[in-house]
Amino acid sequence: MEWGMRNRLSRIINPHTGRSVMFAVDHGYFQGPTTGLADLGRMVNPLLGFADALMITRGALRNWIPPTMDKPVVLRVSGGQSILKELSNEIITTSIEEAIRINASAITCSVYVGGEYEKETIGNLSRIINEGAMYGIPVLAVTAVGKDLVRDARYLSLASRICVELGAHMVKTYFCEDGFDKVIEACGDVPVIIAGGKKIEERAALGMAKKAVEQGACGVDMGRNIFQSDRPLGMMKAVRAIVHDNVSVDEAYTIYRNE
Ligand code: R5P
Repeated sequence: MEWGMRNRLSRIINPHTGRSVMFAVDHGYFQGPTTGLADLGRMVNPLLGFADALMITRGALRNWIPPTMDKPVVLRVSGGQSILKELSNEIITTSIEEAIRINASAITCSVYVGGEYEKETIGNLSRIINEGAMYGIPVLAVTAVGKDLVRDARYLSLASRICVELGAHMVKTYFCEDGFDKVIEACGDVPVIIAGGKKIEERAALGMAKKAVEQGACGVDMGRNIFQSDRPLGMMKAVRAIVHDNVSVDEAYTIYRNE
């Protein structure tokens, strides 16, 4: 791997802990003004100091995030669908030149394995991997599940491994209770981070993060379970303590509660 790509990756995944807390706030690209993110800057900017990277669209960056912020950007470059229609119908919306102008540390799009537009989304991922390779920009592949697909180890291993085989540098997938270690195994040396998914009770979300890193995930790319919490800063700090400091779920929950 070239120096530039390694350097960008090491801005996202802490080289000392091998872990990363990515803050996912790209939901508006198909959900519009998602609960908690209507005033995106007001929610995100106070929490940024505790995140390792920010996953976001170019429009949200320009509108709500000051260009003086120093966190690496994982730029969402796909879109084209909405919650009103078929979710897998994505295209690449943001060019590699735009990602470079924005100073993105990585680019990302979703892959809907088993979805109606499976081939197109796999094509999207392949394209951004090829374009990113020209400029040393790594790619985070997101295994999106759409509305109907089952999130079990068999499916998540299939989807994640396809992303690895196509050349993704990081894979974002979901945690599953049975066989998550198989998902990790399917990805070889490619770092795996978990999405948080729909908002659940805080202790359960922290427990999920804990189990994921214990079973080999290099961290989380969490959104709703942070920005839809009653204490977003507390959740951010608690998740960070699990990922980087290996604290217990009880200790992390206390961090959340004390905020
Ligand atoms: C999908 O909308 C995006 O890729 C999100 O960034 C991803 O789902 C992570 O966010 P959450 O933790 O809310 O699931």
